[in-house]
Amino acid sequence: MINDLFLRACKREPVERTPVWLMRQAGRYLPEYRAIRAKTDFLTLCRTPELAAEVSIQPVEIIGTDACIIFSDILVLPEAMGVKLFIEENTGPYFENPVRTRADIDKLIVPDPCRELKYVMDAIRLTRKNLNNRVPLIGFAGSPWTLATYLAEGKGSRNFSSIKELIYTNPKDAHALLDKLARTTAAFLSAEIEAGAQAVQIFDTWGGILPPDEFREFSLRYIEQVLKLLKHNGAPAIVFCKNCGHSLEAIADTGCSVVGIDSSIDIEKARMLIGSYTALQGNLDPALLYAGPDRIREGVKRILGKFGKGSGHIFNLGHGVLPDTPVGHVKAFVQAVKEESAKYHK
Ligand code: CP3
Repeated sequence: MINDLFLRACKREPVERTPVWLMRQAGRYLPEYRAIRAKTDFLTLCRTPELAAEVSIQPVEIIGTDACIIFSDILVLPEAMGVKLFIEENTGPYFENPVRTRADIDKLIVPDPCRELKYVMDAIRLTRKNLNNRVPLIGFAGSPWTLATYLAEGKGSRNFSSIKELIYTNPKDAHALLDKLARTTAAFLSAEIEAGAQAVQIFDTWGGILPPDEFREFSLRYIEQVLKLLKHNGAPAIVFCKNCGHSLEAIADTGCSVVGIDSSIDIEKARMLIGSYTALQGNLDPALLYAGPDRIREGVKRILGKFGKGSGHIFNLGHGVLPDTPVGHVKAFVQAVKEESAKYHK
């Protein structure tokens, strides 16, 4: 590996500077991505390994990130469980037949990821080959809870009424659904590692819609199950639960190597709480990239100063990069991290 800063930081080993990448770095803010999307619909892009590899590598070459994340989507996994997925150009992804009853849950299949999701594994193998060890490749999946919210709602939601009704009125069925998703997710992430992913990230985008007790019962418990079943093969696992600052210690206790933190969390406090046994990833507000390079650099310096000296920090945003972010600002962000962080590692 030519640049293994990211992997070293995941293990809290010494680094010369803080590594940096962005959640959703392969996407619409890049004109090169939009050029490919103009000719190819989103799901075809996910299912065509040559194109998925190409857009995965775009941010590494154009932005200079220290890690590559495989281009795909968290919703390809539930689709492989037998729920047809549609991506509407302007409204986002939806499932025509949401999963709400015990019969719906029992109908979900536990797929063999090497067969039903072979296109993801092929994309990973090809991306590794084309990266040629320039930077590490990250695989990912949604958390069981976040996948369950999409399955029950059928689409993005404001109130999450369907999934919340399920957990409060019928917790047994909710647990059956989450257990099935956890087993499927563990098999999927293990296959990604087997195919060449050198780290994996679990996105729990909707953990934060639950009160702390329910977050532990319905989300964290199943992330823990995934990590227990995972065939790590040395690959670090990153757990990112958005809006879950109330449970940082519990997240770190799932057995992950890295805890992803959103912008609402003070990274200095997070390091005090869990930094002695896990690395931290984050946490610049994605909207700060609307501001100019000077303001971005100021934000970067503040977070570096709060984390302080030593390894165990992977710089990232607090959530995905916004589609209308100017590319020049994304470059300025990555450059600022590279230049400003060296002094914290002397
Ligand atoms: O990080 C990366 O660059 C890898 C690619 C990636 C995508 N989706 C590509 C994508 C990753 C890691 C995801 C994860 C994902 N997908 C999450 C968790 C992370 C998060 O942001 O909260 C969620 C909740 C989804 C589900 C999803 N997929 C939504 C809600 C949408 C529509 C909203 C949107 O951002 O457009 C998608 C579509 C999607 N996934 C796009 C991309 C680049 C946009 C599709 C397009 O090109 O038009």
